[in-house]
Amino acid sequence: MNTFEQGKEVVMNTYNRFPIVLEKGDGMYVYDENGKKYLDFVAGIAVNSLGHNHKKLAETIAKQAETLIHCSNLYWTKPQISLAQKLVDNSDFDKIFFCNSGAESIEAALKIARKYGNKTERYEIITMKHSFHGRTFGAITATGQPHYQEGLGALLPGIKYAEYNNFDSLLKVLTDKTCAILIEPVQGEGGIHPADVEYLKKIRKLCDEKDLILLFDEVQCGVGRLGTLFAYQTFGVVPDAVCTAKGIAGGVPMGLMAAKQKLADSFKPGDHASTFGGNPLAASAANVVINELLNGILNNVKENGIYLTEKLNELKKKYSIITDVRGLGYMQGIELSIPVSDIINQTIENGLLLVNAGKNVIRFVPSLTAEKSHIDEMTEILDSVLSKF
Ligand SMILES: Cc1ncc(COP(=O)(O)O)c(C=O)c1O
Repeated sequence: MNTFEQGKEVVMNTYNRFPIVLEKGDGMYVYDENGKKYLDFVAGIAVNSLGHNHKKLAETIAKQAETLIHCSNLYWTKPQISLAQKLVDNSDFDKIFFCNSGAESIEAALKIARKYGNKTERYEIITMKHSFHGRTFGAITATGQPHYQEGLGALLPGIKYAEYNNFDSLLKVLTDKTCAILIEPVQGEGGIHPADVEYLKKIRKLCDEKDLILLFDEVQCGVGRLGTLFAYQTFGVVPDAVCTAKGIAGGVPMGLMAAKQKLADSFKPGDHASTFGGNPLAASAANVVINELLNGILNNVKENGIYLTEKLNELKKKYSIITDVRGLGYMQGIELSIPVSDIINQTIENGLLLVNAGKNVIRFVPSLTAEKSHIDEMTEILDSVLSKF
């Protein structure tokens, strides 16, 4: 029995996995158990923000592991405080809640928004169709894609869905019980769709007028992926809280919700918690990620994100099956007139990891350290595969 056959025997069948076993990574590349090299434009789906085997990140994690891996949030730790300070200093937020994943950060946001709304007996939350917010019960209810909710029975009450990028549709589901609006500034799993700036501005204005909480899900599009530390900074619209996770600690599990004081005040001790949230190991890793982003990597994404768009548009000109190029920075996608699964299978065979976002979209979410040469290498392999379709 080979490794992945063994995996199928003992690991629960929740993923359609490719038949490769990854063993190590270095920079923009990963290697399988047979030593085959792959250019990695998936980065753990927007997680390995500094690439693989980043020296400073690895050394910091190793040193922290020798010092203090974990202690309860009953006590203070310096890595957590310095991380929170950095996030506050570089954003419009006042307080951070730490957890371990995107879905948990969404749960925190749903709960705090309802706590806020409870004061005025409001509890409904509007989310968007085609959104994705995670797999826990609250997050999957907030997710505006019914196929993820099939067979689960009763979902969280009080969630309403509006069309993305359609302000009138939002007004139609707004009631006097609405307390919050949750939106991805760029829809990720839904197919890489950026929000219109004017639409977000209108939502902000509505929230101000009606005392609604505006929540941004930046789990995928945050942490430098658009070329700014937080995604909202790219759009110039400030929410009352953001959820982020994925790339924040460069591959060590971490999620967080950053909130304005007026919202943060809705949580009192005991209202919400997480055993591992912001533990010294994850927080020390995240400190490295934030430092590196602020010290040049954000500029790399801004500059080379434009280059990636150019290269994808060149492919679009060449292949009529590419119907659209969308996205920003290092979160981009191409939509095709055919399903993309066979194309992705073939790029993997040719040493390039890519991931879909829905049936017809290939998404590009490489490490934020990806350079022009990697974009060239990626487009060359993709070009040669596309020429066969
Ligand atoms: C926008 C968004 N929100 C939330 C999540 C859930 O994150 P996690 O898988 O870490 O729970 C994801 C995961 O893909 C996501 O893309």
